[in-house]
Amino acid sequence: MRILIAGVNQGLGLVLSRLLAENGHEVYACYRNKPSGAVLEFAERFARFKMVELDVTSELMAAAASEKISGDGGKLDAVVVTAGILTDSDREFLITDAVIDDLRAALEVNVVGSAIMIKHFHRLIKDGGMFITVTSEAGSMTNIGAKYPGYSISKAAQNKLTAILAKTAVHCRVYAVHPGRMNTAMGKNDAQIEPEEAAEGICRILSGEKKIPPEHGWFIDYRGDAMEI
Ligand SMILES: NC(=O)c1ccc[n+]([C@@H]2O[C@H](COP(=O)([O-])OP(=O)(O)OC[C@H]3O[C@@H](n4cnc5c(N)ncnc54)[C@H](OP(=O)(O)O)[C@@H]3O)[C@@H](O)[C@H]2O)c1
Repeated sequence: MRILIAGVNQGLGLVLSRLLAENGHEVYACYRNKPSGAVLEFAERFARFKMVELDVTSELMAAAASEKISGDGGKLDAVVVTAGILTDSDREFLITDAVIDDLRAALEVNVVGSAIMIKHFHRLIKDGGMFITVTSEAGSMTNIGAKYPGYSISKAAQNKLTAILAKTAVHCRVYAVHPGRMNTAMGKNDAQIEPEEAAEGICRILSGEKKIPPEHGWFIDYRGDAMEI
């Protein structure tokens, strides 16, 4: 497969891109700012691991990367947007004391960033391919808690964005995937699984080894089970 992953400097994006490269797939590994040491190491180790500088909030960078990748060999089998943020203030404060600039930052990366990725990359996906946004159980509209308000609002909007894409892009399958509570920089305080487990599940969904019944809809977890919208 030929797959683009956005947000690979650490966490799920890093583990998923390594797993795909280890299995011989061609990976466009998109990092922001500077590539992490691990990204540089994978680029040395795997011939088909290609580094792409891409901050998901930059439409200019997304347009340039999209043009370069399409010139580089045509269509993609899948795009996975793992890039996301949870701000420190959002861990600490309830919505009644929210730091509004941090709410804006969460919306900018988690929602606008995904919209930019959709705009510039869904056309590169081949017929029957897949577009995944990694969202969260926190984005559910029925299962609502008071913690992480800005993040939850942004993940609900990212879910809606993905659902709209699912209605729009008829040539590919579209999923918002909850990756589980992972032991990463973002999730270590509430972790239940390692990011490797989530990455393996997402690989099975990408490869088609895990079939998603149509009745599961567009919001699923990393095992392919339906999530509560
Ligand atoms: N961890 C959990 O328990 C959990 C639970 C549910 C959902 N999720 C979702 O799963 C995804 C991955 O989370 P994670 O736990 O792996 O988080 P993480 O360890 O904090 O990693 C986040 C990644 O996103 C990148 N990123 C942030 N802003 C970006 C931008 N503007 N452009 C490009 N890349 C950007 C980061 O790059 P830098 O390293 O350069 O900052 C990093 O590589 C997120 O969307 C998160 O919301 C996580």
